[in-house]
Amino acid sequence: MNRKVYGKLIFELSREGRRGYAVPRNGLSDDIVSESVQLPEAMRRATPLRLTEVDEPTAVRHYNNMSTNNFGVDTGFYPLGSCTMKYNPKINEEMACHSCFAGLHPSTPAFAAQGALQLYWTLQKALCEIGGMEEFTLNPFAGAQGELTGLMVIRAYHASRGEGEKRRKVIVPDSAHGTNPASAAVCGLDVVEVKSRPDGTVDVADLEPLLDDTVAAIMLTNPNTLGIFEKDIPRIASLVHEAGALMYYDGANLNPLLGVARPGDMGFDVMHVNLHKTFSTPHGGGGPGSGPVGVRKGLEKFLPNPRVVRRTETPDRFPVNESDRYAIEYSPLALGSVSATLGNFAVQARALAYILTLGSDGLMEAGRLATLNATYIKEALKDCYLLPIEGLSKHEFVFDGLRDKSTGVTTLNIAKRLLDHGYHAPTIYFPLLFHESLMIEPTETESRETLDEFIAAMRDIAREAIEDPETVKTAPHLTPVTRPDDTTAALNPVLTFDSL
Ligand SMILES: Cc1ncc(COP(=O)(O)O)c(C=O)c1O
Repeated sequence: MNRKVYGKLIFELSREGRRGYAVPRNGLSDDIVSESVQLPEAMRRATPLRLTEVDEPTAVRHYNNMSTNNFGVDTGFYPLGSCTMKYNPKINEEMACHSCFAGLHPSTPAFAAQGALQLYWTLQKALCEIGGMEEFTLNPFAGAQGELTGLMVIRAYHASRGEGEKRRKVIVPDSAHGTNPASAAVCGLDVVEVKSRPDGTVDVADLEPLLDDTVAAIMLTNPNTLGIFEKDIPRIASLVHEAGALMYYDGANLNPLLGVARPGDMGFDVMHVNLHKTFSTPHGGGGPGSGPVGVRKGLEKFLPNPRVVRRTETPDRFPVNESDRYAIEYSPLALGSVSATLGNFAVQARALAYILTLGSDGLMEAGRLATLNATYIKEALKDCYLLPIEGLSKHEFVFDGLRDKSTGVTTLNIAKRLLDHGYHAPTIYFPLLFHESLMIEPTETESRETLDEFIAAMRDIAREAIEDPETVKTAPHLTPVTRPDDTTAALNPVLTFDSL
């Protein structure tokens, strides 16, 4: 690590007794203050916590310096395939940070949180309209947790028909994101793989013999992880339904379909969306996220607790009071709870702000521009990067490294060299269908100029790979950290200051 650029750890800057902030005393004497903050003996730690003690300027400079060494969508173009790293409009932040929301305790009783519950309910309904579903829960905290929740709904559905023990297989394509088989396994189901055809779509001939009364569901994302629209979905849906199984839609790739096509209309029964991707709330580095799950009519009773409902009248048919309009309910048929609360509220607030700002026409335009931008880059680069699957693609596409393989320059080298040009690296070595996968998703939020500059950088790297391959192979050269040993970091992570 370059200690000059990064400076020291905050622990190394700590000096005993240094203070950056003091709790206001409100004119109270020392005795009263110390009396009022004394915790009972039984609740105190045996040994005090080792906290850093720094003055305010040191803390502010430390974190600001660190932030300037970071890369985010607010500082540059972030073409990370499969992740929909779109720009996050600042109005979303303003809404999520509104004092009426930001200070709300998760256990606030419903009558005192009507505005927050209205927000939750409105977002549920908006997602139903966008996805073509009957009902949504916003409780799961990530796409992967949404997958698990959706599969639990599917399991509960089969169990309710006396087929819970029999239907234990989940079919996933060989191009699927790793979370799909992982979620199925965590749900206690068995994973069966279906092959892709040379054009990258699900091989229906391979699927047909897999479908029988032991199958619980098929999990698909559309467009798939190659960015290709699965045009056989109606056929697949009718085969799956004939076999008594359900269709699960992984909504991580919903962006290009926004306002254009709906999973519910394609025959999907259960879906999740990633609010942190499609609906422009910041993510990366492990959070925060939100993976709402939608279901078609008939499955809503299995959705997890708690739920938010909008009442128009009381049980004895009187008009409901405004303070009781939105209520939190627990259904006895639900599969249980997947979160202690109603989910990641700040992410929900940002997503609703985004949806309402764009409106239905704006969402449709976003979806179409996402496809246009990806196609623009793909067409501009396919003479120097190898496009393994020709044809139309949507919001993202995959190259199989450089066309000219004689230089020995790999996808990893290209990704690292892009950092020197000031871009976040695309997704690499996923999907697993090709040796040198390089997956690019520009999103709709980038201008023509940004796309042109990125194309120029990619072409520069392709030229450099032939003229000066060593420079590409040893990149990056201009970043604060050059080549961390990522294998050691993954196998032997050092997570605490003490173990340094
Ligand atoms: C296709 C696909 N499915 C599911 C997920 C999982 O979403 P999350 O990272 O929110 O758990 C991802 C994440 O990148 C994805 O690309």
